[in-house]
Amino acid sequence: MKVFACPAFSLAKKIAKKLNAKFSGIEIKYFPDNEIYLRFKERVDEEVILVQSLAKKPNERLVELIFSSLTAKDLGARKVIAVIPYLAYMRQDKRFKKGECISARVLAEILQASEIDALFTLNPHLHRIKSLSEIYRIPAFELSCEGEIAKYIQKKFSKDEWVLVGPDIESTNFVRRISRISGFDHFILRKRRISSKKVKIFVSKLKPSKKNAIIIDDILSTGETLIKTIKELKKLGFRKFFCIVVHLLSEKGLKKVEKFCKVVSTNSVPSRVSKIDVSEVFSLAIKRYLTEKPIREIDELF
Ligand code: R5P
Repeated sequence: MKVFACPAFSLAKKIAKKLNAKFSGIEIKYFPDNEIYLRFKERVDEEVILVQSLAKKPNERLVELIFSSLTAKDLGARKVIAVIPYLAYMRQDKRFKKGECISARVLAEILQASEIDALFTLNPHLHRIKSLSEIYRIPAFELSCEGEIAKYIQKKFSKDEWVLVGPDIESTNFVRRISRISGFDHFILRKRRISSKKVKIFVSKLKPSKKNAIIIDDILSTGETLIKTIKELKKLGFRKFFCIVVHLLSEKGLKKVEKFCKVVSTNSVPSRVSKIDVSEVFSLAIKRYLTEKPIREIDELF
């Protein structure tokens, strides 16, 4: 079994190491007319793991993944496992306006048509779609890094001074589980999205507090959600802030939030603040899948 990354991606190397599998790269170039050129640098084994985050330039990254998967099969792979630490397009999970594309479903169809046999991803944005199995016919595992984030919090902060905050209803289960594992108190705010770049955060039911807040969210894109959360909590008397996100999608958004407080993310998307390593989450789940242990046991791990 070989783990290939398209393009070189440090998380892929870590996953390969934990699986005792060989790591190799895929050479990807773009021609002057923007067509893609792709070449597997080493022989493709029967089982291939492709690691590709669909972050930042999701359309380019997706085409690279499609070409890689179909090429791996063409070169003799029997099974292609896609590790997609950040699964893009999950927020457009319904037709909000007549005629719109339901992107999450279309992406599922594209990946399945690309002959991917199984998919592993991390904390996908599941809201109206409750589980990937609703839209994927292939085994699709939504893993979670709650344990990793809880460990990070326990190491760096004191429960007497800091509380965990989820900025919106969608963050409820995630933040609640981190709170349960870490032993830190938590509360969840309400958010209304006004446009793709504007949100309103509601804290009206909260009492004033002199504590510090660790705000936890799945995605940092424009930074608006985190900034508005900090501003509202400040009005209530909260003193210090720290933000933790799973998928850091924009350097510009990050810089905006950093004007208010420190931010760390997981390495699902590599960046200068990706301090929380999630390779173990993937390697354990893949090991379980390949040794054909019941899927239930994968859940129990997290
Ligand atoms: C959506 O509800 C997500 O959970 C995030 O809160 C959101 O995508 C963050 O985006 P932004 O940084 O643009 O506010």
